[in-house]
Order: sequence, then structure tokens, then C-alpha cells
Amino acid sequence: MTIVEKIKQEIRAQFEQDTTGHDWHHIMRVFNLARHIQSKEGGDLEIIELAALLHDISDHKFNGGKLDEGGKVTRSLLQKHNYPKEKIEQVVYIVDHVSYKGANTPSEMNTLEGKIVQDADRIDAIGAIGIGRTFAYGGHKGQPMHAPELKAEMHESFEEYANKTTSTINHFYEKLLLLSDRLNTSTGKAIGKERHQFMEGFLTQFFVEWNFQPENK
Ligand code: ADP
Ligand code: NI
Repeated sequence: MTIVEKIKQEIRAQFEQDTTGHDWHHIMRVFNLARHIQSKEGGDLEIIELAALLHDISDHKFNGGKLDEGGKVTRSLLQKHNYPKEKIEQVVYIVDHVSYKGANTPSEMNTLEGKIVQDADRIDAIGAIGIGRTFAYGGHKGQPMHAPELKAEMHESFEEYANKTTSTINHFYEKLLLLSDRLNTSTGKAIGKERHQFMEGFLTQFFVEWNFQPENK
């Protein structure tokens, strides 16, 4: 069995039961999107596949806010399989830098392989799937679907982004609608553009229905 197949089995066992939007199917979609982007843009396929499989291994939202935990878990898992040290560090770098940290919070991703995995993860956060995941996560967190009195915020730091209460509709303005402009590769941007337009159409219709009024005589 290849290293990718082994890690795939382990991740599947760990994520199959998840209902927070980080489920096994999200990981498989990111895996497939990343493979597609790699076929157009190049980059080391094995590193990309491993990073896609491992990118959510220890999410800050579910591990008590620790930001570098994902990289540590990734390192020890790949060491267990005797994967070469230098390649391990390439995967660890991606896992530690992949996530979105707020509208006005800069993020760094310096390798082609990382840019591709980040694009794949961001593309799966927008479009019809992105809408579904966001409402699922909002319900899991117990936040309102929409709260007109609560304004969307452009977070200046990761702490702010991670800790502020919001509504699911605000999350579109705080993250989802910003993602298509933050994609790295031209292959990713082309896919992102279509999904972005779909979300805009959804929001237009959402507000039409939300603001429905009886006609006055
Ligand atoms: P990703 O897997 O793309 O890195 P995250 O880990 O940030 O995504 O979050 C998982 C899913 O939950 C994504 O679809 C994301 O947009 C959504 N999400 C994150 N924070 C919120 C929030 N405060 N309200 C609604 N949805 C959220
Ligand atoms: Ni993800």
C-alpha cells in the first residue's frame, strides 16, 4: 500500500462520523479538487495528496484554539510510517498554514503545493457545498441563521475572528464572499468564480424571502 493509501484509511476512520462540516466527504472533495488543480498547475502530487488528507487533522475550532497542533499531529503520523523527514516538513508547513484567519488577517502560503491545497479547501467552502457546510456549522455552534441587528465584521486578528459571535449569514461577508479573490492559482480562480456567483444569487433570493411583506391595500 502506498503512503497516500495508508493515510487515507486512517483519516477515513477518524473523520467518518464527523457532522461539523469537517467530515470525510469534505476531505475527499478537497483531495479531488487538489488533484484536479495539480493536473493543470503542476507541483508534487504526493505532497499535495497527503496535505489534502491531513489538512483538517487538528482544527483550532475543535482543539481548544491551538494553531500549530495540526502540524505536530501530521509530523508524528508521517514519522510513524517512516516517511522521509524533508517531505514530512513540506506537508507540515501546508497543514499549519492552510486555514483562513479573518478578513484583515494576512496569511502566508509559500509553496506551489500549499497554494493548491489551500485553493481546494477554499473552493469547498464556497458554492452550493459551501452554503450547506456553513449552515451545518452554524447550527452545530448554535448561532442564529440570520440576525439583522448583528453586523458583519472584518476581523483584524485571528483571535477576534475565532472568538466573535456571529450569524451564519454574516459568515458569508466575513469569509465566504472574500475567498474567490484570495485563490492562488488560475485553475482555482476559474472554479471559484462560478461558485462565487452562485452564492451571490443565493443571498439575493434569501433576502427577498426574508423581507417578504404582505401587499398593502
Ligand atoms: P475549512 O475546512 O474550509 O478550513 P473551516 O475549518 O474554517 O473551513 O470551517 C468549516 C466550515 O464551517 C466551513 O464551511 C466554514 O465556512 C464554516 N464556518 C466556519 N466558521 C463559521 C461561522 N462562524 N459560521 C458559519 N459557518 C462557519
Ligand atoms: Ni478543510
